Amino acid sequence: MEITKLQLFNFRNYQEESFEFSNGLNVLIGKNAQGKTNALEAVLYFAIGKSFKNIKDKELIYFGKENGNIKIEIKKKYSKLKIDSYLFQKEKKSIKINSIPIKRIGELFTQFNAVYFAPDELRLVKETPQDRRRFMDIDISQTSKVYFYNLGQYEKVLANRNKLLKDCKNKQELEATIDIWNRQLALIASNIILYRLRFLKALSPIAQKIHSYLTDNQEILSLSYTGETGESKEDIYNNLLKKLEENFEKDYALGYTGIGPHRDDIKIKINDKDVKLFASQGQQRTCALSLKLSELEIMENASGEKPVLLLDDVLSELDETRKLKLLKLAKNYQTILTTNEFNFDNLECTIFVIENGKIAQKIQKK
Ligand SMILES: Nc1ncnc2c1ncn2[C@@H]1O[C@H](COP(=O)(O)OP(=O)(O)OP(=O)(O)O)[C@@H](O)[C@H]1O
Ligand SMILES: [Mg+2]
Repeated sequence: MEITKLQLFNFRNYQEESFEFSNGLNVLIGKNAQGKTNALEAVLYFAIGKSFKNIKDKELIYFGKENGNIKIEIKKKYSKLKIDSYLFQKEKKSIKINSIPIKRIGELFTQFNAVYFAPDELRLVKETPQDRRRFMDIDISQTSKVYFYNLGQYEKVLANRNKLLKDCKNKQELEATIDIWNRQLALIASNIILYRLRFLKALSPIAQKIHSYLTDNQEILSLSYTGETGESKEDIYNNLLKKLEENFEKDYALGYTGIGPHRDDIKIKINDKDVKLFASQGQQRTCALSLKLSELEIMENASGEKPVLLLDDVLSELDETRKLKLLKLAKNYQTILTTNEFNFDNLECTIFVIENGKIAQKIQKK
């Protein structure tokens, strides 16, 4: 799929601007704080239904204005799509796909897919399990509404179980009632884990291939799921239920549920060594890039459409060889890349010079 047009009205530091992107490489170039990332944030909004910075919708509205509006036009293989999002200070947002209001955010996920990569994504490799769960959750949700709803259900049941563990003063009474919650939790959890296992199974060979490409075959990347697993959904359900029962005393003492998909993680290794513990900064960065780039293929396989690639300020982070390899790979997708400066002499691309929330200049390079 390809974005043909993006319109921003009172969104972040844009009052009114319209981008007509080409289907190849689009470069947003400009000094710091001009609105490059803001434009990518708007694009990504249509893929995940919120800001990737995890902030409230009203904070996306131009300072001091009552409302904002962003619109995107997308060309797919066999159809065209227009998505409008209206943001308000005082009301909930409203999103329309081809002029029809959507009821749930999940409806966006299967319509438009984008992959975003920025230097900060290094946290995917370096930081807490939460970052890697978020990576799986966002990715799987973009191609499966069921998964997204399962996550919501799981959170509710988990909150209920945790409340019981924390508030119930009578342990015997709790022991008698917790079984219902264990079963409900294990049931939804087994769905979630099954999706994640399938996702990692599909992701692993792709990530391995891309990582080998970026490192000139020097490094072998491997991924595995940590948490309760099993061969089938029933297996996972039974294993998790048993574990929840075994862990009851511990959970009761802690006042919350210590196991389940909300605690699981992805173990990432390079040449059989844990990346978090042993890899250099550059290796970790490349590893995060390999994972994110793999999302492109995963999404394409799931939807039959190529997602859009958004690269925010990543060139300055890579050495010359990896930079060129990345740009070569990006050629397979519609790409929007932001940068402060870069020599694009030999590259076919469309350049947008961004100044203070405006396109100051548009240059078509052949
Ligand atoms: N709601 C808002 N209304 C108006 N301006 C905003 C709003 N939110 C953020 N901004 C401004 O947008 C400006 C540009 O931000 P953006 O992150 O897009 O810059 P950038 O071009 O990506 O810069 P850099 O090269 O440093 O990454 C910031 O200076 C910020 O103050
Ligand atoms: Mg930026």
